[in-house]
Amino acid sequence: MEVHNVDLTISAVSDEQYPKTNIPEIALVGRSNVGKSSLTNVLINRRNFAHTSSQPGKTQTLNFYDVEDKVCFVDVPGYGYAKVSKKERERFGKMIEQYLTQREQLRGVIQLVDARHEPTPDDVNMYNWLQYYNIPTLIVGTKIDKVKRSAWNRQLSLIKKTLDVENSTPIILFSATEKKGKDDVWQWIEERMGK
Ligand code: GTP
Ligand code: MG
Repeated sequence: MEVHNVDLTISAVSDEQYPKTNIPEIALVGRSNVGKSSLTNVLINRRNFAHTSSQPGKTQTLNFYDVEDKVCFVDVPGYGYAKVSKKERERFGKMIEQYLTQREQLRGVIQLVDARHEPTPDDVNMYNWLQYYNIPTLIVGTKIDKVKRSAWNRQLSLIKKTLDVENSTPIILFSATEKKGKDDVWQWIEERMGK
């Protein structure tokens, strides 16, 4: 999709703050620092519209980015960040669970995993949880620019095997710095928008 207009509609912490629109939504989930906000920026052709940081735990609210009034990306706080207090983690967990299980216009979830490493137990739990709720999922392996090309297939297999990825779940290797994988991710999003 050609993207010109993007609005941060709202940063929400609970359901009464979700935008009162009926636009299809795609949520981005994954560990802190995996690159959710960076992927959002690449998809919308902006440098730092969604704030990124080398410090994990940057995104702390559900951020709704309206793209051309056609699709809304929901950038979600990352999981698995040890420095966030237990209380805070529980609050994030509830906020994310409420959104993912109740939002009617949610058409799919992009789950990001760090393509340099084996997916973590948190990643496995998240994937299983999404499948349990029958939420259409795309796996994106991020930071692939940091992996030698000769190792891409090995990392792809590792993600597939560790998450026990179902045939219905595509996997795309992605780099925010090289913008690799952008078109494939958009293609999946556009397919979901039509559902
Ligand atoms: P939280 O908001 O804390 O959950 O993190 P996030 O998942 O939104 O991560 P963010 O997009 O802020 O990126 C974290 C760091 O990783 C930043 O320093 C980014 O520049 C870097 N980064 C993200 N994607 C890539 C990528 O594809 N390649 C490389 N080399 N660095 C990346
Ligand atoms: Mg973020």
